[in-house]
Amino acid sequence: MANENTALVTGGAGFIGSHLVDELLRLQYRVVVLDNLSSGQLKNINSACVFLHVDIAKDPIESVFEKEKPSLVFHLAAQSSVAKSATDPVTDAQSNILGTLRIIENAKKYGVHKIIYSSTGGAIYGEPPELPVDESSPAIPLSHYGLSKLHGEQYTKLYRNLYKLKYTILRYANVYGPRQDGNGEAGVIPIFASLMLSGKQPTIYGDGNQKRDFVHVHDVIKANIAAITKGDNQTFNIGTSKMHSVNQIYELIKEHTSFNKEALQGQHRPGDVYEISLDYSKAQRELEWSPERAFEQGLQETLQYIETH
Ligand SMILES: NC(=O)c1ccc[n+]([C@@H]2O[C@H](COP(=O)([O-])OP(=O)(O)OC[C@H]3O[C@@H](n4cnc5c(N)ncnc54)[C@H](O)[C@@H]3O)[C@@H](O)[C@H]2O)c1
Repeated sequence: MANENTALVTGGAGFIGSHLVDELLRLQYRVVVLDNLSSGQLKNINSACVFLHVDIAKDPIESVFEKEKPSLVFHLAAQSSVAKSATDPVTDAQSNILGTLRIIENAKKYGVHKIIYSSTGGAIYGEPPELPVDESSPAIPLSHYGLSKLHGEQYTKLYRNLYKLKYTILRYANVYGPRQDGNGEAGVIPIFASLMLSGKQPTIYGDGNQKRDFVHVHDVIKANIAAITKGDNQTFNIGTSKMHSVNQIYELIKEHTSFNKEALQGQHRPGDVYEISLDYSKAQRELEWSPERAFEQGLQETLQYIETH
């Protein structure tokens, strides 16, 4: 029998995972975190959770499931950088494919009620012909990262079909907010802000007109909490349907930081999607979720956080 009140969060030392841990603790869950600290940080980890420093792709993890018997698994641990996935695709696949399979296999074996899988709407659709893209659009990733996250989705669905393990897949747009360190999928805001705050010029890759859908981390956490009781065996886009270009973001941060130099120009990076925004109407209908934090407000708060940390 699973412990109703125990939630396992993989990647709980990371940007999104650490906010989720805080919210689950606030909701009175007992929270167990698995993280290898490859991109996550000790300082992000809430001291009220049980933290286990393990690599989900390599270390023994079965004993954790056996001992803790979580009823919920929030699976966020991943190699989360598109750029790194191209330079080291094997490590990317180890964490994102093999690591995911090991988590799901143990979830099945130890009676987990539901797995909530953090996937990507920013990197899974490639360049869809129509925007905002909805969940029925084919997944044609342009990067190793997008492909490895898609494999994770497919294993999740396979275990539902074979073993009745319940899931919800959440495909995030580019997530931003406090604690983001610039390594992950949508690091443009913290990268630009930290450089400009220290008087250094950031690099804009390609023409800077590439556009992204930015969703605030607090809205992403709300989607995860909604998925505890809703959206069984479904996939949802979690985004805003709006877009901001890299050039626009550069200008907004420049204004905020009173930076007075121009950006450096870099080559377009292979694997980077040019334009993406997500249609979230399915999440609105079935998870009763919609984004609440306006981008301008969220960006100001994030910049203030970066300045003071
Ligand atoms: N940030 C975004 O814009 C975004 C967008 C779409 C999807 N996602 C997904 O959301 C999840 C969280 O992303 P994030 O932005 O918080 O990234 P993050 O890099 O801050 O968090 C990932 C965490 O997983 C840990 N980790 C990585 N490999 C591991 C392994 N083999 N074993 C144990 N722990 C491991 C890292 O140390 C880190 O703490 C990821 O699954 C990512 O693919 C993020």
